[in-house]
Amino acid sequence: MKAQIEAIRAAALEEISQAGQTGELDAVRVRYLGRKGRLTALLKQMGGLSPEERPVMGQIANQARQSLEQAIETRAAQLAGQALERQLEREAVDVTIPGKKRPVGRRHPMYQALDELTDIFVSLGFTVLDGPEIELAELNFDRLNAGEDHPSRDWSDTFYFDRDSRVMLRSQTSPMQVRAMDSMELPIRIVAPGRVYRKDEADATHSPMFHQMEGMVIDKGITMADLKGTLNLAIRKLYGQRTVTRFRPHHFPFTEPSCEMDVQCHKCGGAGCPTCKGEGWIEVLGAGVIHPRVLEMAGIDPEVYSGWAFGMGLERMAMRQFKIADLRLIFENDVRFLEQF
Ligand code: DAH
Repeated sequence: MKAQIEAIRAAALEEISQAGQTGELDAVRVRYLGRKGRLTALLKQMGGLSPEERPVMGQIANQARQSLEQAIETRAAQLAGQALERQLEREAVDVTIPGKKRPVGRRHPMYQALDELTDIFVSLGFTVLDGPEIELAELNFDRLNAGEDHPSRDWSDTFYFDRDSRVMLRSQTSPMQVRAMDSMELPIRIVAPGRVYRKDEADATHSPMFHQMEGMVIDKGITMADLKGTLNLAIRKLYGQRTVTRFRPHHFPFTEPSCEMDVQCHKCGGAGCPTCKGEGWIEVLGAGVIHPRVLEMAGIDPEVYSGWAFGMGLERMAMRQFKIADLRLIFENDVRFLEQF
C-alpha cells in the first residue's frame, strides 16, 4: 500500500507541475484529493489493514496529502503570477510613442477686434445690445429719417422679403438706435454689434454680409465734443495712445452734423502708401449728432435731450488691427490664415 501511495503521489505531482491553467489545476485536485479522488479512495481501503499497519499507513497517506496540497498551492501561486505578467504585458503603454496632436482653435480675428472694442465701451459704462438681422424697413429707414427716395432703399441695394419692401435684412446696425430709444430709460449709452447685409459684389473691400458696431449716447447736454472725446479715447485704447485721428464732414440722414472718422495710416504715418491707397488716412467709422427728427420720432424732446451715434465696420477694424489686405480672407475661414492671429 505504501508503494501505491507513493505512485499516486508521484503521478499527482507530475500532473500538478504540468497544469497550465487554474482550471486544469482544480481538475487535478479533484482527481486525487476529491471525495472520489484516487488518494481518497486508497484511504478508504485502510479499514482492511491490521491495527499495527493502520497508523503507519495513515501517517504516510496524510503526508502524501499534505505534500500534494502544498504543491497545488505553490503551482496556483505560480499560475496567478504568470497570468498577471501576461496581462501587464498586454496592457503595457509605450510612453515613448509620440502622441496625436489635437489642433487647438482660436478666436477669429474679427471677433478679437470686436471683443476688445466691446471691453473698451463696457469699461466706459455702455450696455451691449443684440438685435434682429431681419428688420422692419420702418426701423432701418423711416425712423432714421431716411425718406422714401433714399438711394439705399432701392431693391438693387437691399435684400427685401416682401413685395411692399417692409421686411428686410438690415443694411446697418443703426435700427438698434431706434430699438434702444423705444425700450430703454434715458439716459442711454449703448453699443450694438452684429451682421448687416447689402447687395454688394464680394471683392477686396466689399461683402454682401459684414459686421458693424453701432454706438449711441443720449443724455442732457450731449454735444459733438463728447462724440470726439469718446471715439478718440476708444480708438487710442485699441490702436495705441499716439494714434492720430481726424473728423471729416459727411452726410447721414439720421445725424446733423455728420462726420466720418479717419485714422492716420499706421504704415506711412500719413505720407501715403499702398495700405492707405495713397491717402495717408484710413476711414474707420461714420458718426454724428443725432438728428432732432430722430429723437422726436422716438418721443424724446430734442429741446431737453441730445445725443451722438456712430457706426463702424468691424471687418475694417480687424483688417487694420491685424494688417489684413483682403476682406475676403476674413470670411473664407482658411485655417492657414486664421492660425496667424
Ligand atoms: N449706419 C451708417 C452706415 O452704415 C454708419 C453710421 C453713420 C452710423 C453715422 C451712425 C452714425 O450711428 O451716426 O454707413
